[in-house]
Amino acid sequence: MAAAEKPPVSGTGSVALDGALTWVDQRFPLISTWKAHLSEYYAPKNFNFWYYFGSLAMLVLAIQIVTGIFLTMNYKPDANLAFGSVEYIMREVPGGWIIRYMHSTGASAFFICVYLHMFRSLLYGSHRRPRELLWIFGVLIYLSLMGEAFFGYLLPWGQMSYWGAQVIINLFSAIPFVGPDISLWIRGDYVISDATLNRFFALHVIALPLVLLGLVMAHLLALHEVGSNNPDGIEIKKHKDANGIPLDGIPFHPYYTVKDIFGVVVFLIVFAIIVFFAPEMGGYFLEANNFIPANPLQTPPHIAPVWYFTPYYSILRSVPPLFNSQFPGVVAMGASVMILFALPWLDRGAVKSIRYRGRYFKVPLTAFVIVFLVLGYLGTEPTTVWGQFGPWLGNVDRATVVARICSVIYFLFFILMPWYTKVDKTKPEPERVTH
Ligand code: HEM
Repeated sequence: MAAAEKPPVSGTGSVALDGALTWVDQRFPLISTWKAHLSEYYAPKNFNFWYYFGSLAMLVLAIQIVTGIFLTMNYKPDANLAFGSVEYIMREVPGGWIIRYMHSTGASAFFICVYLHMFRSLLYGSHRRPRELLWIFGVLIYLSLMGEAFFGYLLPWGQMSYWGAQVIINLFSAIPFVGPDISLWIRGDYVISDATLNRFFALHVIALPLVLLGLVMAHLLALHEVGSNNPDGIEIKKHKDANGIPLDGIPFHPYYTVKDIFGVVVFLIVFAIIVFFAPEMGGYFLEANNFIPANPLQTPPHIAPVWYFTPYYSILRSVPPLFNSQFPGVVAMGASVMILFALPWLDRGAVKSIRYRGRYFKVPLTAFVIVFLVLGYLGTEPTTVWGQFGPWLGNVDRATVVARICSVIYFLFFILMPWYTKVDKTKPEPERVTH
């Protein structure tokens, strides 16, 4: 519609506001965007608890960007000053401690929301046709988020920042032929140094946040193109009224904006409790070793990544080296994340939602969740945590054997999926959503 033909905005209850909105709307697609994505975006009426985590992930993204901007005002990306500048933020900058703890807690909160959000897709088959691209954007977001967290962790320049980055960058050296050059290129030096810190800072504060924002935008556009899935895993677009509105849909605004605000309030209460009373979360959110300045001459006795990386770290450690090279472990770790891209095509179930799937899906899914948690736990501990088997089993660490079994189950969950989802005895799906 040409700008001048657009009808004036009315109904806000204020003549001045109606006028201002009309002025903007005739020059910018304000009302049409509002309608398409909020007041006339029809979402299934049976969303449940699991549907909070998308909007919560957006909230955490906003918290990270805002607190990150304020941290950057006092942080110094310089190997000689970085650690001290973080201590300065914590002790001298007014409100600095809360900004920093919100940012460090936000990193873990982000992964908690994203893991629950991804698990919801597995429960209700949201990765399935027609939402494959939406899922792929999601996996790209997840990869970028991992990069963002990894780069951010070097910035405080503590012992764990330094040695964690050392371990991960060294993994690239295991790639045959080009590996050593790749790690040199990532570090920008022969050791982790000021040059590494500077580039990680640039990537953390500008490059990856831009990528993340762009991907989240694409994720939401893809979602609104195909429409939301729901706990019944059926398409509400199949049954529409005379005006083309899905019979089982309700406008996102006000119904789900109000529901999401409830989720936000509960989330913020829990978030505040952690920020005020347990920002280190017993070493899971902030590791004790990171309160010691980086010392390239002293390796900490136990190096472990932050909890959200530990399932993959366990998979890496569980694969034995080949000809003294860690390359097989690196490949297994890479594959364990990359396999997520294939999920929409691995799942052949006759129905999408767990509500109508049978045992052949429920048992592997339960096993997957258990092994993911066990791998996650083991990755936080040294491999000696459960002692060793006797000499008759080669004195191998018990935890390594358990991690190996769990890694195999992790991969079998995906590799066997085309088979077990196909033979699964499913229940008939309802025609309309239930609640
Ligand atoms: C910054 C991170 C992310 C943000 C802000 C985000 C945001 C959202 C939002 C707001 C929704 C709609 C509400 C909802 O369904 O909960 C959604 C849906 C969805 N997201 Fe994400 N997301 C993120 C990461 C991911 C990741 C990592 C994946 C998967 C790998 C993913 C897969 C999906 C899928 C499949 C849907 C559709 C769900 C359905 O309709 O049942 N998202 N996302």
